[in-house]
Amino acid sequence: MKHVICNLAEVPAEGEARVFPFFGREVQVWRRGDRIRAAANTCLHLGGPLECKDGAFVCPWHGARFDMADGRHMDGPAPANARLMFLPTRIEGEELVYVWEEPS
Ligand code: FES
Repeated sequence: MKHVICNLAEVPAEGEARVFPFFGREVQVWRRGDRIRAAANTCLHLGGPLECKDGAFVCPWHGARFDMADGRHMDGPAPANARLMFLPTRIEGEELVYVWEEPS
């Protein structure tokens, strides 16, 4: 299955992120070097939303922070080994596409 998340022109400059709808939920999309990443807009503490601040995703509910490079939990109330839920994506033409292939 695949699903278009956004047009590449909608992805902000590195250091910023933008939220897009995703099957009734939300994903954060951002540039990291020459890659475009997408992760669920969900804090791994109690599911709060994430805000992009100073090179990290910060949850306004209780202050957990996650690294934009690899989604790793940096500080605040979430499991120490937690990582943001990255989506498998690829670029097709001018679009960022979510792709899911069942293992064969
Ligand atoms: S829900 Fe995000 S820090 Fe608590």
